[in-house]
Amino acid sequence: MNLADKDNDALNKLRSWHSQTAIILGSGLSSIVPNAGDKEIVPYAEFGEIPQPSVPGHAGRFVLAKIENVPVIVAQGRVHLYEAWNARQVTASIRVLAAAGVKNLVVTNAAGSINPKFRPGTWMMISDHLNLTGTSPLAGAARLDGEEATAGVASKGNPQFIDLTEAYSRRLRERFARVAAKEGIALHEGVYAGLLGPQYETPAEVRMLQRLGADAVGMSTVLEVIQARALEVEVVAFSCLTNLGAGLSDSQLSHEEVLQTGQGAAAVFSRLLSSALPEG
Ligand code: HPA
Repeated sequence: MNLADKDNDALNKLRSWHSQTAIILGSGLSSIVPNAGDKEIVPYAEFGEIPQPSVPGHAGRFVLAKIENVPVIVAQGRVHLYEAWNARQVTASIRVLAAAGVKNLVVTNAAGSINPKFRPGTWMMISDHLNLTGTSPLAGAARLDGEEATAGVASKGNPQFIDLTEAYSRRLRERFARVAAKEGIALHEGVYAGLLGPQYETPAEVRMLQRLGADAVGMSTVLEVIQARALEVEVVAFSCLTNLGAGLSDSQLSHEEVLQTGQGAAAVFSRLLSSALPEG
């Protein structure tokens, strides 16, 4: 079987949707975009380089959807460093989306709030991040783009020394903040710390992150954003604050609680997307 041909078929399905915008849905957030129904599905498995998610709540497919008549590619599910994939593998879907012509990326995740003013169940728009994973999708990119990529997908080489002064697009943030205010949706803004995981933090680590200037903590997003910016894709990202960070409340953290709170908060975010996307 010719893998390159197969990959190009899959890429062409995404390309032919002519979508400017892709949305990555994190843990428990699949319902942000209504049921797949008759929409076209392109499983990650059709792309040689995108690993299959193994965590409950992460589907592993692209859905070609329309939100208020705007064509979008929805990536349902992601893979994480803590599943023992490397920084290149966890960002393969971003390289695929860029190759499919996507210019704007909306990233979502579930995160712990470490700012006591940001209550669980609310959303935080990410203004900046701390990449505490210790790795980068751009490490070795100049060599690996050629070696790992299947034909067509990563034809555009990754630069390495990219500027991240405005990793999270001011233009898109202003738009979402304006729409949220108009719709009466509470939307915090703050700094996201991305860690390896998969264990949740200790209370001492949460205190450290607060001192470092983080408002939320999670195990995804930062590498995807770095990869997107390297390919000149504009990014806006949102954390669904599913719980207070360890030591900030009396309860223990659980993945079930994270999924449940995410499902509850998904409807609010759908409303925000439906109003903000048609603005173009
Ligand atoms: N810490 C890290 N990742 C998370 C959390 C948390 O408290 N909640 C959801 N994802």
